[in-house]
Amino acid sequence: MSEVENLIQKAAKARENSYSPYSNYPVGAALLGADGNIYTGANVENGVNDLSICAERVALFKAVSEGTSNFERLAVVCEDEYCKPCGACRQTLIEHAPDLEVIMANPDGNFRTVDLKNLLPEAFSLGE
Ligand code: THU
Repeated sequence: MSEVENLIQKAAKARENSYSPYSNYPVGAALLGADGNIYTGANVENGVNDLSICAERVALFKAVSEGTSNFERLAVVCEDEYCKPCGACRQTLIEHAPDLEVIMANPDGNFRTVDLKNLLPEAFSLGE
């Protein structure tokens, strides 16, 4: 299995832990650190809508809070043909991983790869 396939599989597995009773839209993410560690996440919703969080940010916050700050790749899996990270996740990710490769995938393993920089051109950066 290729590294990309492995990451997609990990994201699909994480998706099984999604808590999404309000949207019924489970999402899974897997983030590969430069240290070789893989951090996974699923979306976790809340009855207070604004408190819900996306799968990508769960994975990122897990990684950063565990001391990893250098990332190579992110796989995201949802039911869409190519699961596209939302704007908030793009902005959150680019601060920690400007050179991130984003693999937008679905549970069947179909995917498309895009550089985060191309998903969020001219991103906000404090003080620039
Ligand atoms: N969601 C993610 O987890 N990642 C995204 O990039 C877009 C949307 C979640 C948030 C919410 O729980 C559900 O998908 C429907 O919007």
